[in-house]
Amino acid sequence: MEFPIFQVPYLGNGMTIALDAVLHVVVSHGLAIGAVSMVVVSEYLGHRRASRDWECFAKDFLRVIIFLTTSVGAMTGVGIWLITSALAPRGIGSLLRVFFWPWFIEWGVFTAEVVIVLIYYYTWERWTGERKKHHLRLGIGYVAAALCSALLITGILGFMLTSDGWPWDKSLWSAFFNPSYIPQLVLRLGIAYSLGALFSVGYLVFTSRERNFCKEALAFFGKFALFSLTVVLLSAIWYFNVVPSTFKTHSLYAVMTSRFSQQPGLFWGINIGGAVFLLFFWLVALRRSVISVRLLVVPAITVSILFVSQFERVREFIRGPYLMPGYMYANQVLLEETPLFAKEGMLPSSYWYNATAKRVDSVSQGAYLFAQNCSACHTIGGINNIVDRVQGRTADGIYVIIGHTQEMVPFMPPFSGTDQERRAMADFLFRLADGTIKLGAPSRFAPATGGPGHE
Ligand code: HEC
Repeated sequence: MEFPIFQVPYLGNGMTIALDAVLHVVVSHGLAIGAVSMVVVSEYLGHRRASRDWECFAKDFLRVIIFLTTSVGAMTGVGIWLITSALAPRGIGSLLRVFFWPWFIEWGVFTAEVVIVLIYYYTWERWTGERKKHHLRLGIGYVAAALCSALLITGILGFMLTSDGWPWDKSLWSAFFNPSYIPQLVLRLGIAYSLGALFSVGYLVFTSRERNFCKEALAFFGKFALFSLTVVLLSAIWYFNVVPSTFKTHSLYAVMTSRFSQQPGLFWGINIGGAVFLLFFWLVALRRSVISVRLLVVPAITVSILFVSQFERVREFIRGPYLMPGYMYANQVLLEETPLFAKEGMLPSSYWYNATAKRVDSVSQGAYLFAQNCSACHTIGGINNIVDRVQGRTADGIYVIIGHTQEMVPFMPPFSGTDQERRAMADFLFRLADGTIKLGAPSRFAPATGGPGHE
């Protein structure tokens, strides 16, 4: 493989992508789509009801949203490109080849969104009276562009879960309009509007507003949120119905990890508890109790963000062992390459190993093979620590395990490499576990592992 391998210490590669991506989802769904839509609706209500309160709320809130979306939103969006192209270059490269046009168009759409929202903000005070209608149309134009973004990106996210016929026909259409596309799109929009209403309420109760207006707005956003949450619930059921059952069986494990995976009751308890809390929160909002909402809104935002994290975690995890089902494993090895690697080995064709290895021994070989095969999901000494996973086993035992990773847990890909390479990696892992190779003493094997980012 021609790309250098980076391993993020402690956090691990998957978690690094996840942290950035979840933040991006919260901002892009919750603010860029959900909250701006609430602003446009509020402006409309202000216009219809000749209410300065609605109008001021909308404009003030928009300023905060623009600040957050163009800073945190844009930076985490670019962050996804930066991080995935460093940590999963083959994966993102292959996706880019399949989805070149949707992504290219999305780039244009995103630029249009930024331009429209800025014009929308800066013409707010100027386009009044007769021109108010044009201003409202501009807002609707922004929302339409934001929805276009969601329409385009969800095709790619759906594909990574249900690639369906693509591995055979390799056509953009079957990749884009994959089975989980529509349900996931509806689900994401439901999430966007639930979060949008929630953020609106958060802004409302923590800024000084006229009391009666506050109550009226709480009731309005409450109804909106309850409707959106119903959409979330129904589309989540729809979505899980189209996910292949082999993937679905990993869901519980994705959230609970091996430590708690045997306690489904705990999983359901926490999830139902969270859902009931959100329902309770919105009923309180419907009762127009400003003080209670002020007390509960931060926990409600926290619970909602945890739900979003869980949804993304499950989606990313359950498709394991694949990054692109039917085509590429999570460790970026193509399914059809595996027999070749088993026959000819991984190391001879690894550009960075051959360019940087100072000596040829089983430690440097093993470290590099671990980086290639396992570091997408395991760290050395951090989250999902490989040392814990092989602790207490003999070198022979580890050798056996490496040949059966895909059978031990169904979301792990098989090891790619020759028998000699499997031996080298077993030896490396054994010595890591028994302490012969010290963590934090990278000089022993770092030169062979292809560069910065490693331990
Ligand atoms: C797609 C992600 C992924 C990849 C790639 C991966 N693993 Fe895992 N592996 C996991 C997860 C997740 C677990 C379970 C963690 C837990 O216990 O919660 C696991 C568990 C394990 C276990 C313990 C299994 C058990 O039942 O006790 C071993 C051993 C292991 N992995 C070895 C490897 C080796 C060796 C490689 C490289 C050839 C590898 N893994 C590649 C995700 C992965």
